[in-house]
Amino acid sequence: MTRCAVLTAVGGYLPPTVVTNEDLAGQLDTSDEWIRTRTGISRRHRAAPGTATSDLAAEAASQAMRCAGMDSVDVVILATTTPDRPCPATAPTIAAKLGLGPVAACDVSAVCSGFLYGLATASGLIVADLAETVLVIGAETYSSLVHPDDRSNAVLFGDGAGAVVLRSGETGELGALGPFDLGSDGSGRDLITVRAGGSEQWAEEPGSRMRDAYFSMSGREVFRNAVQHMNRSARRVLDKADLDADQVDWLVGHQANARILRSLTDSLGIPEERSISNIDLVGNTAAASIPLALEHGHREGLLKPGDLVLLTAFGGGLTWGSTLLTWPALAR
Ligand code: COA
Repeated sequence: MTRCAVLTAVGGYLPPTVVTNEDLAGQLDTSDEWIRTRTGISRRHRAAPGTATSDLAAEAASQAMRCAGMDSVDVVILATTTPDRPCPATAPTIAAKLGLGPVAACDVSAVCSGFLYGLATASGLIVADLAETVLVIGAETYSSLVHPDDRSNAVLFGDGAGAVVLRSGETGELGALGPFDLGSDGSGRDLITVRAGGSEQWAEEPGSRMRDAYFSMSGREVFRNAVQHMNRSARRVLDKADLDADQVDWLVGHQANARILRSLTDSLGIPEERSISNIDLVGNTAAASIPLALEHGHREGLLKPGDLVLLTAFGGGLTWGSTLLTWPALAR
């Protein structure tokens, strides 16, 4: 037995406003039929203007802390593409909103793979004995990043937050996390991007197009890359653990598109019924996608203590990551 990170609680939060496909079809040149058949999404949640990513994150984190029966943690890590502000990081704001005192807090930026990177970072802190407990949150307000007239992206993304609490434990325990596989390919950065607003292209630069300040994505190429990288990353993590795909009880893949998830289960040889999916209800919530899918699987009673769960994500960067855990017995 060696020291490792153990998942001990999960929480999730979706802002109350629901935007259906019919609602979008009333505003954009799209249809419920197109959205459902191409993406599997039927609704998504939208944060009200003035609601920041830290507000969603604090709600999800409170739920996870209640589930863990804890009122403090050593570290707060937030995975997000949509921080409250470009500077400073949002995690300290969340820690303050939760009344956690002067805890260590920072953001991790890896777009839709961010939560996997956050879990790996938290695991590393625990294994290195730098922390006993870590709150890992994935939270997004893509409504602030996607141009409302951009039908290609406006139909895909939703707002929300998911959170888990990790504590130190031992390999072999229920909830034990690992091994991990993480990777990136920066040559693909233009496939998922916001061009302006950083050091390379200032937001106010003469000639900067207003659209450059918003999210853009090459859907078809991203689709192909997502399946390929999640498949390879998931296989690498299974190899590291000396396990086969048929031993996996639940696949929790990044919820980008129901067709991506279907191609992924096909390529891994995992039956579709063993893939947890809430994309029809929430859309693509980027860094919040994996923890919200875990919270969904827990709430719906799909995830049972002892189940082997494979997590895999792909996102902008390009980035990807995977890990394994045995599902613990959690309070509901
Ligand atoms: N409603 C109606 N038509 C739409 C539309 C919408 N909301 N969005 C795009 N279209 C149109 C396109 O303009 C295109 O029209 P054209 O053939 O006349 O040019 C047509 O639909 C097909 O577009 P295409 O991009 O080929 O569709 P697709 O089957 O690849 O599906 C995505 C598009 C975006 C759903 C799909 O590529 C995808 O899910 N990609 C990955 C998305 C993702 O979430 N990534 C996140 C990071 S992992």
